[in-house]
Amino acid sequence: MLIKPQSMMSFPLNWDSVFPKSNPLVVEIGFGNGKFLKTLETTNANVVGFEVSLLSVEKAMKVIDHTKTVLLFMDGVWGLRELFSERSVNALYINFPLPWPHKKHASRRLFTLPKLQVYASRLVDNAVLQLQTDMKEYAQEAIRNSEESGLFSLVDYTVRNEVQVGTKYEQKWVSLGKKIYKVVLRKKRHVSVTNYFDKEVIMPHAIVHDTHGTLKAGTYRTTFGTIKLWEAFSNNQVMLIPAIVSDDDFIGVSLQQRVYASVSPHREGFIIKLDNHADVFKTENVKSLIWLIANQISNGNIKRINVQPPSKLEYEPA
Ligand SMILES: C[S@@+](CC[C@H](N)C(=O)[O-])C[C@H]1O[C@@H](n2cnc3c(N)ncnc32)[C@H](O)[C@@H]1O
Repeated sequence: MLIKPQSMMSFPLNWDSVFPKSNPLVVEIGFGNGKFLKTLETTNANVVGFEVSLLSVEKAMKVIDHTKTVLLFMDGVWGLRELFSERSVNALYINFPLPWPHKKHASRRLFTLPKLQVYASRLVDNAVLQLQTDMKEYAQEAIRNSEESGLFSLVDYTVRNEVQVGTKYEQKWVSLGKKIYKVVLRKKRHVSVTNYFDKEVIMPHAIVHDTHGTLKAGTYRTTFGTIKLWEAFSNNQVMLIPAIVSDDDFIGVSLQQRVYASVSPHREGFIIKLDNHADVFKTENVKSLIWLIANQISNGNIKRINVQPPSKLEYEPA
């Protein structure tokens, strides 16, 4: 089944209430067409898959066993850190990750130190972290970074030229005559990594006396990342403000969300809140968006608000 953690009210998730049976949790990041998830379903595990491609999610939805596998349409490293508690995942699999070969994109690779720390924190002690790739340099860098981190040790490294799991990319590379490098690492040392989302979610909102102020479209750099505010559109009653909100992070990926905030009449004046609240993680920068709109639209005349202003706020016109 596909779950939407954006609508959930506390983090990390209670996985026992998500799956019908209480089994060990295993995770795949970047499941593509879902073929490897099917392999995982043959073990006695509750399977969780992360994907950032909606098309892949749609395809995998058609092949998975919905009682055994849960799919999430979100970045797998964010998901692992925010949705799982420490020492709760029994194995983590990454098959044919995007290589990001250019140096300037190196922080996006999945075996950097900050990401290895997230994996080590969420995996149980001695758990397996497995990588398969068609790129020898990628495999070697993953081994080097993992060993240098002191968090994982290499237990197996094999090279083959035949299809083993049958994922789309494995088939593609084998048919082109490429070798497949399989790296099996074992968690050696634990490290704590705190999550970014609040444990208990609040629904950010503000009440303002009036809406005599002006919203300035453009990019805002805040303490937590960036907010791109677009021109508002409105009917007689409600004003809708589209924004792209990015929360930056040390793991080398920012969490980017399309957010709609609305301003509508309220018995005490006007209320500013998330219009698509079920589709949005209520991150620090999403809270900053509500503050920003409330502050601008009321000329600083905020009556009540349940979020703090960001300590940094720089404006770049659109
Ligand atoms: C080259 S494809 C491999 C797909 C599949 N594992 C296979 O073997 O056919 C890489 C996949 O990883 C997904 N992906 C890349 N980065 C991701 C991330 N941080 N979290 C989740 N999925 C990711 C991409 O959308 C893409 O589907």
